[in-house]
Amino acid sequence: MTIDQFAYKLKQHCGPLFKVAEVICGYGVAFLHGKRIREALDQAEQSGTIRGNAARIRALVPGDIYALLAFYETLPEGHFKYFRPHGFARRDVEKVLARPYYLAYGLFLEGELVGYSLFKLYPGKKAFFGRMLSTKLTGCGLGKYLSLYLQWQSRIMGFKMRGTINLQNSPSVASHQAVGGFEILGDLPNGYTLIEFPADLMPTEPPVLDVRLE
Ligand SMILES: CC(C)(COP(=O)(O)OP(=O)(O)OC[C@H]1O[C@@H](n2cnc3c(N)ncnc32)[C@H](O)[C@@H]1OP(=O)(O)O)[C@@H](O)C(=O)NCCC(=O)NCCS
Repeated sequence: MTIDQFAYKLKQHCGPLFKVAEVICGYGVAFLHGKRIREALDQAEQSGTIRGNAARIRALVPGDIYALLAFYETLPEGHFKYFRPHGFARRDVEKVLARPYYLAYGLFLEGELVGYSLFKLYPGKKAFFGRMLSTKLTGCGLGKYLSLYLQWQSRIMGFKMRGTINLQNSPSVASHQAVGGFEILGDLPNGYTLIEFPADLMPTEPPVLDVRLE
């Protein structure tokens, strides 16, 4: 069993212990790699278009809490079938936006938050990612864009990009496979799989935010 598989099991069976370890390790990682993390965040803001309308992606800050809470409110329960990044109570979201080992990114369309991505940073220079799009914008290529965008940010930080994915989640799997794909590292409980993105395929330049499909 790898350390990640052990950690996942610990999270499932000893949630409070995992959370304490996560906080301690998280602050340590943020301290040790702060310079590279800041380097990535300094370049995080990118502009472009979605269906001809102005779009922007940038790192989220504590002041974005209301936009993020409002975004979650728009999502139907079914959208969380395979992925629930963290609790959605105000205090949970405040922690995500304030703690240095969470990197949260918002995708804005005409000023409205329509997509959310995050990294949780762990020891061993591992960045575990997640993506969540508004239901009105799925299926038009933004999942692929976010996959590349996160790989690019991860490359700047010098972190391995890993994820826990359910292979039944077809849009998630297909959107990664369309832009280079991932390696399977092992099985996790509850039908999940541990994956990693090959470092040599990670983009060196930010992907272009230009989505035209209806
Ligand atoms: C996962 C998610 C971010 C993907 O975003 P998206 O915008 O739908 O992705 P894209 O449009 O870039 O790509 C979707 C791909 O899946 C394919 N696809 C969509 N629905 C599918 C289905 N039911 N079966 C098979 N393939 C499917 C599309 O054809 C496309 O592949 P292609 O370009 O090779 O044709 C989005 O669906 C989402 O927010 N889901 C809910 C949250 C979630 O599960 N997140 C994943 C955890 S990391």
